[in-house]
Amino acid sequence: MLRQDAVSDSFTPATGEVAELGRTAFLKQERSDSAGQNTPRGGVVNFSEGEKTQCREPAKDLARLGYAVVPRGSLGIHTLHWPALNAFLASVPSSLAYDPYDANQARARRYGAFLFDPSSGLLQPFGRRYDPTGAPLGEYYQDAIYNPDPTAAGVRRVFAGLRDDQINSRGLHELIRADFAIAEAAGVLPGSAAYLAGVHLIAVMPRPNHPAVSSPDELHCDGEPVTAVHLVERRNVTGGENTVSAVANTGKHPKSLPAGEIIEQFTLTTPLDGFIVDDRRVSHHVAEVQVMDPDFPAGRTVVLIDFRPMKPLSNDDLPKASAPTS
Ligand SMILES: [Fe+2]
Repeated sequence: MLRQDAVSDSFTPATGEVAELGRTAFLKQERSDSAGQNTPRGGVVNFSEGEKTQCREPAKDLARLGYAVVPRGSLGIHTLHWPALNAFLASVPSSLAYDPYDANQARARRYGAFLFDPSSGLLQPFGRRYDPTGAPLGEYYQDAIYNPDPTAAGVRRVFAGLRDDQINSRGLHELIRADFAIAEAAGVLPGSAAYLAGVHLIAVMPRPNHPAVSSPDELHCDGEPVTAVHLVERRNVTGGENTVSAVANTGKHPKSLPAGEIIEQFTLTTPLDGFIVDDRRVSHHVAEVQVMDPDFPAGRTVVLIDFRPMKPLSNDDLPKASAPTS
C-alpha cells in the first residue's frame, strides 16, 4: 500500500508510475471513482505538458472579474517542481488533525503562515508555535464580520500547525509563489515589501446520512485580500460545488439566490485545479459534501493560500503617546 506520509520531496516518478501506484493503492475506490467525481489518491499524479496548452489566463480574469478559475496547467509551475508538488499534495490528507472547533468531528485541518518577500521569493515560516509535546500549532483569527460561526467569530483558533515536511516543502513553496504571481500580475494586492501567506489544509469528511460543511456555510468573504483554493483530493463524495457571487450577497446561501445572482458555479474534480478570489470584489461558498458509497471512507481536501500585506507602521499610524514624565 502506498504510504502517503512516506513520500519524500525527492521522489521522481517515471511516466505513469504515480498513476499506477495510485490505482493499486485504491482499488477499493474504483466503484465510486467511476462516477467521475473523485480523484486518485496520492496527489496530482502526472499531469502532462499538454495541459499547459489548455491554460486560461487567470491574472486577466482576476483583474477583470474579481475571481479566476485556475486549472492546474495555468499555474505556471515549471515541470521541474511537479514531483515536489506531488509529494506535498500526497502528504496532506493523512496528515490532518481533527478541527477542535468542530463538535461533529467532520472537519480536519492544519494551518501555518509564511512571511513572503516577493523581491527575492523568500518564504520564512511565521508565527510558528509548539505545544508542550513539540507538536506544531497554527493560530488563526477571523473577525465576526467575516465568519459569524460562533466557534470562529472573533476567536483566536489554534489548529494543528503545518508539519515540518510541509513547511519545508518545495512543492508548497512553488504553489505559494505561483498564486502570488497571479495576484500580483492582476494588480489586486496592495503594494508592500512583504506579505503574510497563510496556508490552510482542510478536509471535510461526511459520514453516511451526515453531510459535512465548510465554515461558514454561506456566501462570505474571508477578510484577507486574496485567497486561492486548490483541490487536493475528492474521495467517495458528491457535492462540494463552489459558488462565486457579489459581495452584497454575503450571508446568504447560494440555494436562496435567484440564478441571476450567481456569477459562476463549478466543481473542482482534478487535483490542484482551483480558483482565486479578490476578496473585496466577490463572495464565495463551497457546498456541503455527502458520502457516495457508505461502505468506504469519504472526504474532500483542499489547500487554501491567502495573502495580506505586511506594512510597516509610521508614527502617524499609531495611537498618540503621552509626553515623558520626569
Ligand atoms: Fe472562504
